[in-house]
Amino acid sequence: MTENKKDKLKNTTFTHMILITGGTGLVGSHLLYFLLQKEDKVRVLHRPTSQLDRVKTVFGYFTDDVEVLFNKIEWVEGSLTDLDSLERAFDQVTQVYHCAALISFDPRDLPHLTKSNVEGTANMVNFSLFHKVEKFCYVSSIATLSTPMEGTEVSEKTPWNPSEEVSVYGFTKHAAEMEVFRGINEGLRATIVNPGLILGGGFWRSGSGLFFKMIFKGMKYFTDGKTGYVDVEDVVSIMLQLMEKNIFGQRYIVIAENWFLKDFIGRVASEFGVQAPRKKASKWLLEMGWRLDWLSSKINGKKRKLTKNLAKTSVKIQNYSNNKIKEELGYTFKTIEISIVDTCAKYPKP
Ligand SMILES: NC(=O)c1ccc[n+]([C@@H]2O[C@H](COP(=O)([O-])OP(=O)(O)OC[C@H]3O[C@@H](n4cnc5c(N)ncnc54)[C@H](OP(=O)(O)O)[C@@H]3O)[C@@H](O)[C@H]2O)c1
Repeated sequence: MTENKKDKLKNTTFTHMILITGGTGLVGSHLLYFLLQKEDKVRVLHRPTSQLDRVKTVFGYFTDDVEVLFNKIEWVEGSLTDLDSLERAFDQVTQVYHCAALISFDPRDLPHLTKSNVEGTANMVNFSLFHKVEKFCYVSSIATLSTPMEGTEVSEKTPWNPSEEVSVYGFTKHAAEMEVFRGINEGLRATIVNPGLILGGGFWRSGSGLFFKMIFKGMKYFTDGKTGYVDVEDVVSIMLQLMEKNIFGQRYIVIAENWFLKDFIGRVASEFGVQAPRKKASKWLLEMGWRLDWLSSKINGKKRKLTKNLAKTSVKIQNYSNNKIKEELGYTFKTIEISIVDTCAKYPKP
């Protein structure tokens, strides 16, 4: 943004100013595209190291007018834990979409996860309360939901089980959700979405994107696990609808369908035209795997790839219920079949 434009913005009072965190991530960049279709005052908090071009890649999936749309964004450099930058980012803000989070399952990242996810969300809530923000949307995760009684689906009512072993990521996302509920108790009009594994293009080094990349390159093993999947466009559409309809004080599981991992990997592999893994990773192999991964990360200092918790999760069979959001909004999800086809089509083949 030019200095001239910045000055103009400083002197203008808006009825509407939307702040997005995590705008350079999978969810945030898609949210930006859809928000910018009807909103002009959109501000994004980004870190000095953020790759802003990723937003252009995502816009390019939907439009030829990438630059026009991209230039509408007001960028504020900072971080969720840098209070001075938050003070600048919150100037005249009326609505907040808090999508930013650190996603890591490596137990050694707990201090960073706590800082970004818990302290960062507490800051977002406190600034929103202080600046009397009208609406607040927080992107949580199904990782905050505990395992229900055997044979039942996971729903928003499934109580948090503090004695259940959860990932460091899930633990900090749960604590972050508690910060948002604390804000709700203090008067913040906030809504929370709990998406499953989000499918979408543009981010092939993390999240489900990494999965697509690994499958494309050829995976050797599959596991028995089952979980909820959702297309990124559905996540964003639901966030926008909840905010537009002023639905606050609740959380919603946002998944389209529950799939076995084996079926998901197999379907992505067939869409790519590559060999699907034929061997099932036995419990014994997974037990060995996470221990070897731990040992090698101790020796070479590299990030953990297969933690004890991930090994357990990969064989866990969980069915998530999306009844609450479907009933609340009368929402119809894109099928995971279509989402896989769409995402594979965006994958940059060599
Ligand atoms: N992806 C999934 O399958 C999935 C599933 C369920 C829930 N979620 C949740 O959905 C939200 C969005 O996830 P995503 O997939 O879009 O993640 P992502 O692609 O990894 O993007 C994360 C975003 O957060 C930003 N960020 C991280 N730490 C920050 C900090 N301290 N200050 C400011 N910005 C920071 C990153 O900025 P940089 O560009 O600088 O790195 C990036 O823009 C997260 O809250 C995540 O927990 C994701």
